[in-house]
Amino acid sequence: MADWIEVALEANLIDRKPTRVMFGDEPVLLLEASADVFAIGNQCTHQGAGLDKGVVRIAGSVRTVTCPAHGSMFNLETGKPMRPPATKSVPVYDVRIEDGRVYIRPRANS
Ligand code: FES
Repeated sequence: MADWIEVALEANLIDRKPTRVMFGDEPVLLLEASADVFAIGNQCTHQGAGLDKGVVRIAGSVRTVTCPAHGSMFNLETGKPMRPPATKSVPVYDVRIEDGRVYIRPRANS
């Protein structure tokens, strides 16, 4: 399993505002929403637009980001597309916060 990589300081995250970070060569969308922090691949699986420029929706258990290019909607917890045209999931990362530092690593089987 891949090692954890520090990608941000928790104090720099703004609630419900996506931040683009890197896991090696992979761009990742990092998002804090209330008490949870999500990390999913930042590149839309349709044509690669940056999801950090998309619209975040937090409504109860439905937490999504919508691609700014053609409207694909992705679940922030599972990375699965909930609305086309994208049909493939984006990768999901585990998030760990320690001493105010945010670490991520690819989630197994994502
Ligand atoms: S690039 Fe995201 S929906 Fe087309």
